[in-house]
Amino acid sequence: MKPRLLELLECPHCRKADFEVDAQKSDGDDVVEGLLRCKACRAGYPIRDSVVFFEISQAEDKASAWNEVFSAADPAAVGRDIERTRKNVDSGMAVQGCMMARLLKRDPSPFASYLDIGCGSGFFSWYIHSVRPGMRLTLLDYSVPGVLRARETMRQIGVDADFVQGTAMNLPFKADAFDLSSTAGLLEHFLRPDQDLILKEQARSSRHNLCQAPIDTPWYWMLRKYVEWRQGKWPFGFEVPLKPAFLRQILKDNRWEISSSTFQSLPLAFLLHGLRFRSLRGYRALAFAERLFSYDACHLCRRLP
Ligand SMILES: C[S@@+](CC[C@H](N)C(=O)[O-])C[C@H]1O[C@@H](n2cnc3c(N)ncnc32)[C@H](O)[C@@H]1O
Ligand SMILES: [Zn+2]
Repeated sequence: MKPRLLELLECPHCRKADFEVDAQKSDGDDVVEGLLRCKACRAGYPIRDSVVFFEISQAEDKASAWNEVFSAADPAAVGRDIERTRKNVDSGMAVQGCMMARLLKRDPSPFASYLDIGCGSGFFSWYIHSVRPGMRLTLLDYSVPGVLRARETMRQIGVDADFVQGTAMNLPFKADAFDLSSTAGLLEHFLRPDQDLILKEQARSSRHNLCQAPIDTPWYWMLRKYVEWRQGKWPFGFEVPLKPAFLRQILKDNRWEISSSTFQSLPLAFLLHGLRFRSLRGYRALAFAERLFSYDACHLCRRLP
């Protein structure tokens, strides 16, 4: 944990921002092992592998499907994933393929800080970083293997970032700590009122929201049936795709006004990647097809007063 992270943190139990750090092992100014303690309520948060753990006691059961997804990956596979993504990022292809990065590239707002909520492997942060390299990155996940995997990805690609284990429903950050926060593939794993809690926590801690979720279309169900058939089960735990109007409604109910949107067809994107489709102009021309076969929706939103 770098000292700069303290500027953003707030105790998720008592909402005070007064901490003391007991460093047991450090690397320069980075606390690798130790304890972060809230001076107000005395809650203690372990620091391991430079990551602060805010919700360690419950993380095992609640994120179990994700713990499996991320711990199953062997280090060689992670390396191969990184190499493939690096080629796509370098050619601009992944950025075209990643709707969040596409929306951000088009938006002129000068975002300086970004929180990736439910960062998983960390690849979304990588895409976002490739279009906004100056932004300060903070990555959070509930799953312990998830957040460690994200840290490893960022370390291997040489991107400086901060990592926190915690929950989207009670973010360990100050009000307005970030210009922008995102959830990519998180809301569909919850129902109301948990979805409201996540969006409210985003509205407390950030001014803009990039929100990506699968939407309820025949293409979603086709892909899902295919995965279930190939793997014997759906590997990502509880998941309900959102109706487009429902997604717009829960954003609105939680003070988020949509400023721009994009849609993406995941099967189409896979097909293009599979065919090693490289031409950006050609890909853009497929926007119509993406809308028609859309699988995911992504909205860039601004917080209302
Ligand atoms: C579909 S994955 C997100 C993929 C990720 N954005 C990526 O690039 O790999 C959903 C993620 O949400 C995380 N998650 C689940 N419940 C959470 C919670 N309550 N708070 C924060 N993250 C959570 C999971 O551990 C998982 O990493
Ligand atoms: Zn406290």
